[in-house]
Amino acid sequence: MSELTGQGLVLITGASGGFGLEFSRQLEARGYNLLLHGRDKARLQMTLSAMRYPDRHRLILADLNAKSGLTNLLADADSASLTGLVNNAGFGIWGSFEQTGIVPQIDVIKTDLKAPIALTHALLPSLLKSGGFIINVSSLAGVTPLPYMSTYAAAKAGLTYWSEALRTELAGRIRVVTLAPGPSPTGFRDVSGMPAGKGSFFRTAVPDIITACLKTLDHGGGYCIPGWRHRLLYTLQKITPGRWALRIMSKQLRP
Ligand SMILES: NC(=O)c1ccc[n+]([C@@H]2O[C@H](COP(=O)([O-])OP(=O)(O)OC[C@H]3O[C@@H](n4cnc5c(N)ncnc54)[C@H](OP(=O)(O)O)[C@@H]3O)[C@@H](O)[C@H]2O)c1
Repeated sequence: MSELTGQGLVLITGASGGFGLEFSRQLEARGYNLLLHGRDKARLQMTLSAMRYPDRHRLILADLNAKSGLTNLLADADSASLTGLVNNAGFGIWGSFEQTGIVPQIDVIKTDLKAPIALTHALLPSLLKSGGFIINVSSLAGVTPLPYMSTYAAAKAGLTYWSEALRTELAGRIRVVTLAPGPSPTGFRDVSGMPAGKGSFFRTAVPDIITACLKTLDHGGGYCIPGWRHRLLYTLQKITPGRWALRIMSKQLRP
């Protein structure tokens, strides 16, 4: 299939850094106008400054954990003319389940799982009309359970299952990518509360991850594990017996 280019409008959630910033760069280079969503106005402004044509894009501020966050985001988005939706906003929290408050745990579910489902449902009529696309940023954390990041892994497992089912339901009408990266150098680790560490062998550069995702989109959508390091990690996750995997991950992630 041909590379997706065009003058359409794409909503990118979590555009204030990390993957969201790179999605913004690469989608702008393909000719799209962007609705750049985030919570932090200063960081979102930096994304806008990094664009070649900042006048073509618009910022939307909304906290997806807040009661009115989703409603505000939808009210601000020009849903009538939307071509693409990138469900990218998300975060994880690191630590034992019993010692982590319930509010942040539920917030992970709200931002990483509930928001993409609700946004997609509300924006689908417009996306279908334009024959557009949806990218759901899940994670290899959704492939196996993760002790000490249990709620995050559960949210991403849910997102992957939902996104893959949706891709099948919408096949032939709209392109869907389920992006499942492994460890990547963004703000994610700091936000999760995990100590800095040396960085995983499996880390893959952010531009390469987004390029692989958009290539999957060009091929009609699919489940995208970007780069050989992440594909190696996925293979190891799949071939390691479940109870060994739990023991290894528990040792790796125990506070
Ligand atoms: N980095 C990794 O290792 C990795 C691996 C696999 C999957 N992922 C996934 O990739 C996605 C992007 O994360 P990232 O790695 O680029 O991390 P990041 O640099 O921390 O970016 C996260 C983005 O999500 C936004 N966000 C978080 N909570 C939000 C909320 N309650 N309401 C609105 N926006 C919110 C942040 O906005 P503010 O700045 O305004 O808070 C920020 O723009 C996430 O879904 C993450 O789970 C990351």
